[in-house]
Amino acid sequence: MMHHALNRVLLAGALALVAGHATAADKIKVGFMLPYSGTYAALGTAIENGFKLYVAEQGGKLGGRELEYFKVDDESNPAKASENANRLIKRDQVDILIGTVHSGVAMALAKAAKGSDTTLIVTNAGADAITGPMCGPGIFRTSFSNWQPGYAMGPVAAAKGHKTAVTITWKYAAGAEQMEGFREGFEKNGGKIVKDLTLPFPNVEFQSLLTEIASIKPDMVFAFFAGGGAVKFVQDYHASGLQKTIPLYGTGFLTDGTLPAQGASAQGILTTLHYADGLNTPRDNDFRAHYAKTYNNVQPDVYAVQGYDAAQLMQSGLAAVQGNIDDKAKFRDAMRGATIDSPRGKFTLSAAGNPVQDFYLRKVDGQKNNVVEVAVKQLADPARGCKL
Ligand code: BEZ
Repeated sequence: MMHHALNRVLLAGALALVAGHATAADKIKVGFMLPYSGTYAALGTAIENGFKLYVAEQGGKLGGRELEYFKVDDESNPAKASENANRLIKRDQVDILIGTVHSGVAMALAKAAKGSDTTLIVTNAGADAITGPMCGPGIFRTSFSNWQPGYAMGPVAAAKGHKTAVTITWKYAAGAEQMEGFREGFEKNGGKIVKDLTLPFPNVEFQSLLTEIASIKPDMVFAFFAGGGAVKFVQDYHASGLQKTIPLYGTGFLTDGTLPAQGASAQGILTTLHYADGLNTPRDNDFRAHYAKTYNNVQPDVYAVQGYDAAQLMQSGLAAVQGNIDDKAKFRDAMRGATIDSPRGKFTLSAAGNPVQDFYLRKVDGQKNNVVEVAVKQLADPARGCKL
């Protein structure tokens, strides 16, 4: 009897191998495509740290299976993105892709994921197209669409009595789409964007653009920059003295994960984002304490939360298939239907796979982006062009 049972197990394992399927004893191959160098390097590290923190909290396993990590530094370089994605998909044969930060890189990653039917969880990049025209059953996002945080500031800025705004950002999808979201929210509420200023990613020569803002004299400025570029922009805006007469607003990336470096230059800046400091929920407090303890007292930021939630989302899918990630349809359906108990607050995914979530108005105080209020509750991306 014992012998027969053992034979059956061995036979099942052998058949699985012949069929190319993994068995429960195999590790799940997780491919991280993230920036580990360049202006977004800190964002990539925070995402990886967040992901691994959740896995550690589950005893090092998801769905009862251990994980094996494969990593590519995508350098936030769209020109190398397809090649980098294919390293993980074809060379390393990963079961799931986790990444990335830059919208242009993420669009190439999503295309490669769809082409090979590999499940992808986008952990930051907001490219609207990913949960718009490029949406698909295997495409998920634990972050935001670019439209969302931009839109959320529109009604807030209008309610403060601002009538005219100048926007300033890098010239690529994330900048253009966050400004477009802001335009929609601001102009719907009576505001007017009088000028859109841009410079190429990841340049930080802001002086001539700041001079232009001084001559236009709008009621406010609305900006998207992130990582190292955001540090420099906020410092330069402050040094120009402009903030005394023309307040600076932005999507929350402008001041998230950057406050230790921005110091005095960032004080009082108002931004909108799906995460904030001082939420003071038991869930967030636990997460923050555990993150700081694990990573040398570094405070978590929005990027760490998005990475953490990618692991949570993966866990929800794996629980439904008892770790069998090859049961793609069931794995993906479970992820799409999941409610994620995020440090930011609970969220669900839209049909297109993008978080439906609260957007907070935050104000910089010391080294914190303190929550002021919920700017827009349960904001769903319009998912224009998604046929799911
Ligand atoms: C993006 O490229 O989508 C992006 C990068 C950094 C912060 C937010 C968005």
